[in-house]
Amino acid sequence: MDWIEIEIGEVVQETPIDRRFVLRIPAAHAADFAFEPGQFVTVRDPAHPDSGQRAYSICSAPNGTGTLDVTVRDMGNFGHEFYGYETGTKLLAKAPQGRFVLANAPDDDIVMVGGGSGITPFRSYVGHLRSNPPETRVWLLQSSRTADQFIFRGEFEEAADACDWFTYVPTVTRAEDDDPWTGRRGRIDEALLRGAIRDPEKTVFHACGPGVFVKEMLATAAAIGVPKERCKKEQWG
Ligand SMILES: Cc1cc2nc3c(=O)[nH]c(=O)nc-3n(C[C@H](O)[C@H](O)[C@H](O)COP(=O)(O)OP(=O)(O)OC[C@H]3O[C@@H](n4cnc5c(N)ncnc54)[C@H](O)[C@@H]3O)c2cc1C
Ligand SMILES: NC(=O)c1ccc[n+]([C@@H]2O[C@H](COP(=O)([O-])OP(=O)(O)OC[C@H]3O[C@@H](n4cnc5c(N)ncnc54)[C@H](OP(=O)(O)O)[C@@H]3O)[C@@H](O)[C@H]2O)c1
Repeated sequence: MDWIEIEIGEVVQETPIDRRFVLRIPAAHAADFAFEPGQFVTVRDPAHPDSGQRAYSICSAPNGTGTLDVTVRDMGNFGHEFYGYETGTKLLAKAPQGRFVLANAPDDDIVMVGGGSGITPFRSYVGHLRSNPPETRVWLLQSSRTADQFIFRGEFEEAADACDWFTYVPTVTRAEDDDPWTGRRGRIDEALLRGAIRDPEKTVFHACGPGVFVKEMLATAAAIGVPKERCKKEQWG
């Protein structure tokens, strides 16, 4: 499919360095932009044709409203440009694609690990699962340098309170000793993952974030015994 002109709707400041953008899809292309949780859209800026194109994970659940959300960290060249866009900005977008989608059998647990801005597709997963509650359990582990950089923490905490199948563990890796954060500190490690994975043969493991993070998470899941075909990844950087 060709590039389609879309428009930025609402812009929401999620953290001091992350903004969520509601992308409005023209009604004539709504069917082309149907997506599964975990897929991404590819965008380019018609005002800056030399800056190329970039992928952004969709962070909203499928909603049938002709919109989809992406959350962009103020980082890198394209990321910085996108972060500055305002409501009404016109972009070119390609239809959603990607294989980082939910593919669990009804009796599989789902374990998700997100590092930094790699948490974005899991908001789509969790939103979708809340509309289609699983019979098994779902764990989401989120790693952030500092507490103020957790994207969607409030939403995930609310989901964990509301859904008995959902467990959410945020962890901070670079907080100063006197930081007021009272939750878990330290990287997602084997001990934490062993607590989340109750049966490696009955778990689908999803990792998203910077390449080094994803590599470490997959190696740890493998060490715990999660079969390779049960591990899914999306990485950038
Ligand atoms: C499938 C896919 C989904 C993506 N989804 C998102 C998303 O939901 N939100 C988002 O902000 N970005 C996402 N990205 C990254 C995005 O495509 C851009 O790469 C990012 O905005 C930085 O712009 P740039 O490539 O021009 O940076 P450059 O100036 O080319 O790169 C600078 C370097 O900084 C690092 N870096 C910059 N931004 C990020 C980031 N956000 N996360 C990790 N490392 C980074 C990378 O190591 C990169 O090599 C995704 C990438 C892929 C492939
Ligand atoms: N976030 C920022 O403020 C910031 C600022 C400037 C530039 N950048 C650059 O932007 C890129 C992505 O930034 P980001 O914020 O999305 O991600 P990030 O800061 O690189 O990582 C996000 C989380 O993943 C953890 N992590 C990284 N490698 C890991 C590993 N091998 N095992 C376990 N956990 C690991 C980090 O812990 P640790 O903190 O222990 O690494 C952090 O909690 C990086 O290249 C970074 O250098 C980020």
